[in-house]
Amino acid sequence: MTAQIIDGKQVAADMRAELKAEVAELKKKGIVPGLAVVLVGEDPASKSYVTAKERACEEMGIFSDDNRLDADTSQEDLMALVEKLNNDPKINGILVQLPLPKGLNEAEVLLAIDPAKDVDGFHPVNVGKMVVGEKAFLPCTPHGVLQLLMRSGVTIEGAETVIVGRSNIVGKPLANMLIQKNPTGNATVTVCHTRTKDLAYHTKRADIVVAAAGRPNTVTADMVKDGVVVIDVGVNRVEDATKKRGYRLVGDVDFEAVKEKASLITPVPGGVGPMTITMLLYNTVESARRAAGIEA
Ligand code: GUN
Repeated sequence: MTAQIIDGKQVAADMRAELKAEVAELKKKGIVPGLAVVLVGEDPASKSYVTAKERACEEMGIFSDDNRLDADTSQEDLMALVEKLNNDPKINGILVQLPLPKGLNEAEVLLAIDPAKDVDGFHPVNVGKMVVGEKAFLPCTPHGVLQLLMRSGVTIEGAETVIVGRSNIVGKPLANMLIQKNPTGNATVTVCHTRTKDLAYHTKRADIVVAAAGRPNTVTADMVKDGVVVIDVGVNRVEDATKKRGYRLVGDVDFEAVKEKASLITPVPGGVGPMTITMLLYNTVESARRAAGIEA
């Protein structure tokens, strides 16, 4: 079997068109959604993510407030900025790009963000609400994965789903979303990680494999069954002298070999990546609506 490729760019473009229309409607009511992005330091990958997020806001008509701070910024100054943004009525969403440079206390910063503006869905209040199945901002990457599965017609209910990776940003929240007792959940979920004894034992049984380990070639063709659905969340830079920038992006999955066994698979780039930013825009619009007392 050769897999059908899930075109994340196309799904994201469809969703962004829907959102753009919603932003235009809100503007007629005098409401302009605003997103503040905070980037501390010079990490190249973080810089390119942040630039992409800001560009996407502009395309959508969302106000984007750019806050770039030196790597040696103090915890106090960062906390003061978060407080200022919490109190700014033009700002509906606050995103502090992770990871923060060493020496800064990430947990303390995330806890300081007003949960009503936590469009990343990282605040413990939003995490808790998500776990118990209450309305909450869903973290963008796992929410994007869910949208890709749904919009590709994948049956999630009852599916043996194996997530490789247990990060707070992807693995843990996705597992929680997929076990919710609702139409986009009801999956049977196994979470594998660096201490899993026999990763292939688990992935071979899976109807859906989500790779979010942050390591190239974590999932290879011998590790999956025929007809599997594969979602690759990995974004890894590998040296490539043939490229002008000296590297290319690869996922966590051996794409070329696995696509010969899978029924559906996401590429890297062009799979999950475009969806993450789309879900951030979605949460920001939702936050602006809630702030104005308008229900979706
Ligand atoms: N770093 C990697 N992914 C993300 C994300 O979705 N949000 C934030 N704030 N930082 C990240």
